[in-house]
Amino acid sequence: MMLLLLLLLAPQASVAQPGVKLMMSSKGLDYVTNVITGWAQEKLLTTDIPQISGKVNIGIGSVYYVVYDMKVVKVDYPQPSVKFEENAGLHMELCGLSIAVTAEWRTKYGLIKDGGTLDLALFDVCVESLLQLGKDDQARLSVSTLTCKAQVGRVYTKFHGGAGILIQAFMDLFPGHIKAMTENAICPLLEKEIVNLEGVLAAMNVTYHVDPSLILNNSLTSDPVIQTSDMEVDFKGVFYSEWNPMEPPFPSKDFMLPCETGHMFTLGISQFCLNSYAYACLTAGLLQINVTDSMIPQKSPVRLNTSYFGPFIPQLPKMFPNMLMKLQVFADEAPAVSLQMDSLSLLLSAAVKAYAIDNTTTLHPLFTLNLTTQFSGKLNIANEKLMGKMGFDNLTLSLASSEIGTFQTTTLKNVAIMGMKNGFLPKLNEMLQRGFPLPLMKGVALVKTVLQVQKGFLAVFSDVQISPPLYTEEEL
Ligand SMILES: *[C@@H]1O[C@H](CO)[C@@H](O)[C@H](O)[C@H]1NC(C)=O
Ligand SMILES: *[C@@H]1O[C@H](CO)[C@@H](O)[C@H](O)[C@H]1NC(C)=O
Ligand SMILES: *[C@@H]1O[C@H](CO)[C@@H](O)[C@H](O)[C@H]1NC(C)=O
Ligand SMILES: *[C@@H]1O[C@H](CO)[C@@H](O)[C@H](O)[C@H]1NC(C)=O
Ligand SMILES: *[C@@H]1O[C@H](CO)[C@@H](O)[C@H](O)[C@H]1NC(C)=O
Ligand SMILES: *[C@@H]1O[C@H](CO)[C@@H](O)[C@H](O)[C@H]1NC(C)=O
Ligand SMILES: *[C@@H]1O[C@H](CO)[C@@H](O)[C@H](O)[C@H]1NC(C)=O
Repeated sequence: MMLLLLLLLAPQASVAQPGVKLMMSSKGLDYVTNVITGWAQEKLLTTDIPQISGKVNIGIGSVYYVVYDMKVVKVDYPQPSVKFEENAGLHMELCGLSIAVTAEWRTKYGLIKDGGTLDLALFDVCVESLLQLGKDDQARLSVSTLTCKAQVGRVYTKFHGGAGILIQAFMDLFPGHIKAMTENAICPLLEKEIVNLEGVLAAMNVTYHVDPSLILNNSLTSDPVIQTSDMEVDFKGVFYSEWNPMEPPFPSKDFMLPCETGHMFTLGISQFCLNSYAYACLTAGLLQINVTDSMIPQKSPVRLNTSYFGPFIPQLPKMFPNMLMKLQVFADEAPAVSLQMDSLSLLLSAAVKAYAIDNTTTLHPLFTLNLTTQFSGKLNIANEKLMGKMGFDNLTLSLASSEIGTFQTTTLKNVAIMGMKNGFLPKLNEMLQRGFPLPLMKGVALVKTVLQVQKGFLAVFSDVQISPPLYTEEEL
């Protein structure tokens, strides 16, 4: 009920390794149980109980009755016990529930009608159920009731009003009748609630847009793995370009979430998942930019014009004197994110096509450079956002082709390093400081969140604070 991957591009059937894992600990389950208990208590005190009607056989025929206008006057709602049931789901036990109501009653036996008010109390109501958690045929989380047992300890009734021997017989039989009726009604009621919950889960999309052109496929890769101490749900966690969906051309590696019991939830995001995001950006054509002189800050010594490039490419200002230039930069490979203990590195590989712009705005192709550059840094989580700070590592540059003849790239490389350090890196860090919001359900806030960068994956440990309802009645 909380918030939630095809590897080689080859046609071979791919083994779905999870790119995202979510683990809920016993502490998390206890917290969620508390929230739902509080919520259920409140709901019980404020909901209108529908009228009940039926008949009680008093030996010489049936007395038809209706009990209506029921008002809850007192509820003793003990803390239910909800535990992980290994390899199955959740074992739920609620024992010692008591509820007292006042109501109106009316009876009819043949032509004889009677009525009055009623105090009714049920004591020691017990419900025990095993809920099964699994993966449905659409690879979504599913929940169903595997077993359910309900028992009512004792029923107390006190009728006010009513007269006659027949009605006395009815009043004597009524508690037993109500006891049986309640016992028979509890499990179907619970099942109905679980079916409602299942409906909410089934309406959840496992595939959704994270951006107008990017899709995240977060279908379950297997049934939830349930142990007595925790439950782990594995998700595919692969990003795709909406218009050009392609499987990432690099393999996904499974990873093990660290066993850390101090927090309610642990979220694992693999390096593969992050790289599939980068690959989806590449296939969606998002990793390209045209750089013109007007985009370079006024105070920068570097200018995008043919005169500025004269010292590095002597023939350029001779062939295209005093013209502005345009750089078409596009990633030729997806950026590669590599996660190591406590650090992250980012390798960008791009082609840069340079043009001279003449005064009729015609573009004259000049040359193409291959550029790779590496950054590394740290990530952290704050305000429910993933943030980071990167530093420049190194850069390689080579001339891939030229329309103006060959030239030395050594000095050009220094200019590129300057551009990376003073132009690109501050922009990247600005973006990382704004942060990427973590996908959270409505009503769920993260507290005491810790991020660890491990070899091959990110681990986010967190407690949560839930303000129910997590879903509204209309969504059911
Ligand atoms: C699921 O996706 C469909 C189509 O993209 C969308 O109309 C619907 O609102 C989504 N449902 C939820 C619960 O996000
Ligand atoms: C998501 O991935 C699963 C498993 O690979 C696949 O069966 C499903 O069709 C995908 N969903 C979409 C909408 O692409
Ligand atoms: C960059 O400029 C080229 C040539 O003018 C154009 O075809 C391309 O669409 C532009 N790309 C972007 C991202 O603006
Ligand atoms: C080109 O850049 C130089 C500085 O390097 C500047 O003096 C010159 O005015 C620029 N020319 C154009 C056409 O912008
Ligand atoms: C640029 O404009 C001048 C007139 O302003 C013209 O004489 C010249 O031929 C133009 N050059 C190009 C390359 O179009
Ligand atoms: C770039 O720097 C990283 C780490 O500092 C190093 O591992 C890598 O080999 C360097 N690459 C080049 C091309 O120098
Ligand atoms: C430049 O990059 C392209 C595409 O990655 C590659 O095909 C080409 O061999 C590279 N050229 C040089 C000189 O590195």
